[in-house]
Amino acid sequence: MANRATQRLTDTPADIVQAAEILRAGGLVAFPTETVYGLGANARDTDAVRAIYAAKGRPAKNPLIVHVADLDGARRVAVFDDCAEALAQAFWPGPLTLVLPLRPEAGIAAEVTAGQASVALRMPAHPVAQAILRASGLALAAPSANPSGAVSPTTAAHVLEGLSGRIDAVVDGGACPVGVESTIVGLLDAPVLLRPGGLPSEAVEACLGVPLARPGADPALPLAPGQLASHYAPRAALRLNAGRARAGEVLLGFGPVTGAAANLSPAGDLAEAAANLFACLRALDATGAAAIAVSPIPETGLGLAINDRLRRAAAPRG
Ligand code: TXA
Ligand code: MG
Repeated sequence: MANRATQRLTDTPADIVQAAEILRAGGLVAFPTETVYGLGANARDTDAVRAIYAAKGRPAKNPLIVHVADLDGARRVAVFDDCAEALAQAFWPGPLTLVLPLRPEAGIAAEVTAGQASVALRMPAHPVAQAILRASGLALAAPSANPSGAVSPTTAAHVLEGLSGRIDAVVDGGACPVGVESTIVGLLDAPVLLRPGGLPSEAVEACLGVPLARPGADPALPLAPGQLASHYAPRAALRLNAGRARAGEVLLGFGPVTGAAANLSPAGDLAEAAANLFACLRALDATGAAAIAVSPIPETGLGLAINDRLRRAAAPRG
């Protein structure tokens, strides 16, 4: 794509207005959400949405999440049944994405949904994301603001490392507090966990009163399209569930371990570990280490999302 000078904006009211104007003119603006930084464009502007795919090098088959400011905006884009209403009331704004039937009359660009009859929707809680959505008056298609396949960004500096010169602006709102992407729940049929993320799946199940189906566990269920086995890939190789580092490895610790080059949470707190995950992977990668050994992380709550990202980061590269 054409080289673009990337403006660095702050979260002041004047800069939020500037970000909204760029978006209304069809530009690409990266902004913070509570999960990770998103790369936003007007979801109803075909050219703007195509530019997201070009800037990220993203496969056209991998659909985007539409971000809205409020429930009214969400209901204009998708059809809400009782389950969707209950989850939206309980967890929005917040780190939950719902996959719902698309309203064809909503005018969402076909590229956003990769031509499917469903749409992924989310109402972010981050005040900067909310301010940009309200100032622009737009529904924003926004994948994570990283080149396709790379580690997701949790700071504006991470965004610029991957996309400087390829997007119009980044709004710096500091580090993302949750640190892993949203939990994606499909509600087209029986409720299904399409991606573990920043909202513990146990909380979703408690709200719905039924367990979520897991596509990974049932080959008959579809995965979220574009969920590649290898993703979040640092240059270094990863070895999971490691007791200690072997020769040539650095240790990414969790809990009170000794000899760690970095520690996701010395206290063993999963929320703290999620917030630190992507920055730690980038920092250890930047040391030039050939391999990163990672301490075991429990498979509950936010541990599901952390282990999912680590397994994809460790998978053989395609
Ligand atoms: O926290 C997040 O969700 C962040 C922030 C920026 O909101 N966004 C994010 O977007 O993680 P992205 O593009 O990196 O991941 C979106 C995921 C992909 O796995 C995609 O396949 C899935 O959502 N998805 C999008 N539309 C879908 C649909 N209609 N059906 C099933 N999966 C869908
Ligand atoms: Mg992503």
